[in-house]
Amino acid sequence: MLGLRFDFRQPYTACEAFGKELIAQKKLDEALLLFETARDVYPAKAPALYGMGLVYFHKNKTAKAIALFEAALKKSRGYLPAYKMLAKIDGERFNRIVAQAGIRRNLGQMEAARELYEFAMDIQLETPIFNRTTTIQRLINAKKAKTYLEIGVLNGFNFLQIQAPRKIAIDPLFKIPGKLYRENGHEFYEVTSDSFFENDANKIEKSGIDIAFIDGMHTFEQSYLDVVNCLKYLNPGGVILMHDCCPTSASAANPNREEARKMPCYNGWWMGDVWKTPAYIRANREDLDVFVIDRDFGLGVVTRGKRKNPHGYSPEEVEKMTYDDYISIGREKLLNLKQPGYFNQLDLEKFGVV
Ligand SMILES: C[S@@+](CC[C@H](N)C(=O)[O-])C[C@H]1O[C@@H](n2cnc3c(N)ncnc32)[C@H](O)[C@@H]1O
Repeated sequence: MLGLRFDFRQPYTACEAFGKELIAQKKLDEALLLFETARDVYPAKAPALYGMGLVYFHKNKTAKAIALFEAALKKSRGYLPAYKMLAKIDGERFNRIVAQAGIRRNLGQMEAARELYEFAMDIQLETPIFNRTTTIQRLINAKKAKTYLEIGVLNGFNFLQIQAPRKIAIDPLFKIPGKLYRENGHEFYEVTSDSFFENDANKIEKSGIDIAFIDGMHTFEQSYLDVVNCLKYLNPGGVILMHDCCPTSASAANPNREEARKMPCYNGWWMGDVWKTPAYIRANREDLDVFVIDRDFGLGVVTRGKRKNPHGYSPEEVEKMTYDDYISIGREKLLNLKQPGYFNQLDLEKFGVV
């Protein structure tokens, strides 16, 4: 028989502290009884359900723990500890943390939001998850990069997670939750990328850009121009990443979104003909090393350095290519497509990252 040594007339915080101490002492059954009793005694059910979940987590009964954390969230939709544990168990759930961070930002709770964005990033790096956000962050960490610039930011899903001393966001129509605060080294420019480079480039003249992420207008012409403009300010060893280099269908690859929407195969995804930019650069620039990682709809990587594996087509030929050509020639050849393992194993020095 377990003897509970806890006075439930005390506030829940005392119960929680006692429960966590029991867990630390590996007295898991005692802790479970404590939290079960707390669930019946205290009006707020979420923390007690969470406590029970913690016990099952420590008993290695993960499915039961997940069910209890989800039950806690049903009782209290904003209960952060449960989100955090769910993300710890399964890193893929990081986007629920990002959503919560956005909610906090909307409420002006900037410190809580910052902490959650950071947590989401840590979870993805630890898991590890390979996507645009972790690829950018790993480069920033490896290079100790100071200035990060993102073209096309939307709601800041990626931008607000990224950790860097100085972060520049460019988008003519931000959907950032909350206000465009200039905290945490954030700088927001609500303009097109062309306008930024024409009118505000003095802001990056001194610092240059260490890592750029291009994810604005999804056309060949604009994404190419964005690369060319970023290259003007790219510091030695700097890296340009591009999103959406691997369209998933003919409609996703249509450079005109309205036309894409009318195509029978349209399912909401749209990458436009951004794929032509890495293919074109690989045709006209021998001084740039370009490859595309086969993840997250194709992550283009552009660095200074000798071109590798040229595809043999001229810039004019690439310009005229269609989605059918992209399919028949193949992404491997046109884009120098690589699997994440290539990026993971890259000799950073050779790659130009350090
Ligand atoms: C796919 S969203 C960006 C998503 C974001 N990078 C992320 O990963 O979370 C594309 C954004 O590009 C912006 N955009 C469109 N044309 C642009 C331009 N010429 N310059 C800069 N941004 C542009 C749109 O307003 C939109 O918010």
